Amino acid sequence: MRDARPSSGPKAGRRGWRDRTDRSTWETLSEEIRGCQRCPLGATRTQAVVYRGSLRPRVVFVGEAPGAEEDRVGRPFVGRSGRRLDAAIARIGLVESDFGVLNVLKCRPPKNRFDPSAARTCRPYLDRQLAWLRPSVLVPLGRHALRTVDPEAGPILEVAGRPRPRGSVAIFPLLHPAAALRSRRWAERWERDVSALGSWLASRTKTPYATEV
Ligand code: URA
Repeated sequence: MRDARPSSGPKAGRRGWRDRTDRSTWETLSEEIRGCQRCPLGATRTQAVVYRGSLRPRVVFVGEAPGAEEDRVGRPFVGRSGRRLDAAIARIGLVESDFGVLNVLKCRPPKNRFDPSAARTCRPYLDRQLAWLRPSVLVPLGRHALRTVDPEAGPILEVAGRPRPRGSVAIFPLLHPAAALRSRRWAERWERDVSALGSWLASRTKTPYATEV
């Protein structure tokens, strides 16, 4: 991931303060995403869905693609899955300034079917968002998000609920919250994995932004 921000100077550190120019880089990127017509999803979406949350997040949750509600409202995870996700985030004690939420695909795919070709076109947006946000932890939600941020990971059911070191960012995969809505069995697995995420994050608090897991 390339970093669009200044890499030197007294205020340009990893968690450093951001000047107005820097903030405008984020806004320019968000505008670019909103106006994107690089793939066929641009013609069928109501609006592109960019991001919600802190601009200095410790943790970024990565979903797959906007659904009907997100397409209508213009914010990620605002439907049923989003409510499940927000409840989990609150349960592990993250507050607004700690986290952000985005998707691999910025536009809703027809029939909510993840579109790998559109994801390849969309990929630079995700990379630029993450380079700007610089979270220390990424939480891919579901198999498509996992494959996007960590192509070498095994199947989601095998790796969800445990941290995976990967360069300067740690990855902690979870099932997609929609899975938790499907059956009691998946709901229990979701809750267990979310608790594991909470404990692991708490254990890292003493050495915030450490890269080891
Ligand atoms: N599912 C996702 O993966 N992302 C959303 O924003 C909503 C539902």
